[in-house]
Amino acid sequence: MADREIILCRDANELAQKAADQFVVLAGQARGRFSVALSGGSTPKALYSLLASPDYRARVDWARVHLFWGDERCVAPDHPESNYRMVREALLSGIPMPPENIHRMAGEIAPENAAAIYAAEIARFFQLDADALPRFDLALLGLGEDGHTASLFPGTSAPNEKHKLVTSVYVERLNAHRLTITLPVINAAAQVSFLVAGESKAAIVNALLGQDSNPAQYPAGQIRPANGKLTWFITQDAGGRIVTSL
Ligand code: 6PG
Repeated sequence: MADREIILCRDANELAQKAADQFVVLAGQARGRFSVALSGGSTPKALYSLLASPDYRARVDWARVHLFWGDERCVAPDHPESNYRMVREALLSGIPMPPENIHRMAGEIAPENAAAIYAAEIARFFQLDADALPRFDLALLGLGEDGHTASLFPGTSAPNEKHKLVTSVYVERLNAHRLTITLPVINAAAQVSFLVAGESKAAIVNALLGQDSNPAQYPAGQIRPANGKLTWFITQDAGGRIVTSL
């Protein structure tokens, strides 16, 4: 297990700022291309908007950045639920990103086909031999109240997929199909950073990071970069129950 750090943030704005500072540092340290697997959901929006702001935009050489998605809803790219649309609106519209550096998951096509196509795109980009794993420079993750991350939902097949790079999954609770990179891909990253904000996440944060917790029962608790770093950016209202054990 790599080293793990927990960074408590006053609020969502400070979380976005600290995560943006980490992004800038890692992008500057990357030799050649800087590969990022983006998180979906609502929490990362503030980070993406901040990276596209005048304060941060010029601090990243976007021509060296390659953006992938950690997961996607199986919808069209202009659908309100689309993680691609969220990133396009919050980040891509504000930065000079070469189109070939944007590696979108095709949420609009048959999920199994989309998963296979995306896995091939990852293998091509990282020039992977069969059975090899990509090493993303940075994987950004959110956290669901049920302990899911990316679209690795508990009780589904996705967290158990240990061979494919990308898998599709039907999430009954959401009545929705999703695409997601798999646990082995996330755990092969050089840096994994969770972005967790809001009182609604306090219980799951405690279940994952609190004393006497049993994190492995949750997909998010199985994130252990084999040869990388793990950072938890957590707002105080989400981390209130673990402060005493830090
Ligand atoms: C998604 C995300 C998902 C998300 C969590 C937390 O596509 O929704 O990948 O894993 O990160 O559900 O979502 P919030 O940030 O909206 O709480």
